[in-house]
Amino acid sequence: MDKFIIEGGQPLRGTLRVAGSKNAVLALMPATLLAPGVYRIRRTPNLRDVWTMSRLLATLGAHVELDNAGDLFLDTRTITTFEAPYEHVKKMRASIYVLGPLLARYGRARVSLPGGCAFGPRPVDLHLKGMERLGAEISIEHGYINARAERLRGAAIHLDIPSVGATVNILYAASLAEGETVLTNAAIEPEVTALAQMLSAMGAHIEGIGTSTLRIEGVPALHPIPTFDNIPDRIETATYLIAAAMTRGSIRVVDANPYHLGTVLDKLEEVGCSLDISGTVIELRSNAPLHASSVTTAPYPGFPTDVQALWTTLMLTADGSSRITDMIYPTRFGYVPELHRLGAEIEVVENTAIVTGNARLQGATVMSSDLRASASLILAGLVAEGQTEVLRVYHLDRGYERMEERLRQLGARIERVQTDEY
Ligand code: UD1
Repeated sequence: MDKFIIEGGQPLRGTLRVAGSKNAVLALMPATLLAPGVYRIRRTPNLRDVWTMSRLLATLGAHVELDNAGDLFLDTRTITTFEAPYEHVKKMRASIYVLGPLLARYGRARVSLPGGCAFGPRPVDLHLKGMERLGAEISIEHGYINARAERLRGAAIHLDIPSVGATVNILYAASLAEGETVLTNAAIEPEVTALAQMLSAMGAHIEGIGTSTLRIEGVPALHPIPTFDNIPDRIETATYLIAAAMTRGSIRVVDANPYHLGTVLDKLEEVGCSLDISGTVIELRSNAPLHASSVTTAPYPGFPTDVQALWTTLMLTADGSSRITDMIYPTRFGYVPELHRLGAEIEVVENTAIVTGNARLQGATVMSSDLRASASLILAGLVAEGQTEVLRVYHLDRGYERMEERLRQLGARIERVQTDEY
């Protein structure tokens, strides 16, 4: 088990190339099950979640390899099993992404139910309703979803909530269904759009890409594509920009997509950071005292729930108090008691964190409970006085590639240490 030791007080300065999107590549990888063949996905981040998805696809019979240049090679010509075991699903909920492709291409799938997670119940009812609307027979037995269908049939599907995961599973399945599917209130996150573009390149007929109404005319077969480029990780981009803002530093993030981050960039300007955006480069300077600013999370293009914990942490260093409300995951505040250990004053009332600014954080030992919570504790450690130890950084490694090395390159004093502490 690894932990981080951080000496706070160094402003971040320098240039960083943002990694490929974790959430996008997790949706792109299972798409290769829809058309057996050989694929290369470029700009794949080297992360635990990518390893989990790789192992899951290997369990199904695929060959998956990631090289040092970020090229992920997948060969799905040898799929022999149709089951996603609990062992993988419990590590990563996105394992449920194999449901749609297996069902659509092979007529059956058995996928473990994901259960809860560190930030509350996260049901998969919309994924299952979607598959049922497309004609699948679904039963739940012994903690597993069993799904069967001879050939899926297109249907009109309305999502009560614009769920990213349900949109992804429906897109896969509808691409090979017979006839037209019209999906309304679909998620419009850039990761969904990236998947729709990959499926189109594989021969799927999808209209309305990037909008909340997707029309998918099913085709009898899709074809493999030799190469597909992953998109930049918007949450990683936001994380480093916020880290620079917190430490009153100045950084240049290159190979990013500023359009995917509109709301976060607007907010950073509003609190007093100066931003310079040109093409795929975002430069941020933060030296004045920051003003407090409240946020409420919302589906894309709103303020992302994945940036909620980071914003709360940033607001600790702002002048004044602010309210951070999570409308997507109302209980995603597990990191707050850990921030209290560093001296933060934050009160959680229902789905809102009320943050008192001008905090004088002091180093302490804290424990991470989920991916974005870990990142927020590290950011707090970067500005805390003295030494902060962040335990259980395996959560962080699910979604950030070599974060300690990247922060060190930007001037932070941070070390990864192996420990028996749990
Ligand atoms: C994805 C992201 C995650 C992000 C989240 C919201 C991946 C791998 N993960 O998660 O990082 O925080 O989007 O932007 O891309 N819901 C239901 N029933 C369902 C499915 C979802 O009620 O069947 C609810 C959820 O509890 C939540 C909301 O819908 O309140 C949005 O969830 P969803 O968009 O599905 O999130 P994920 O796809 O799991």
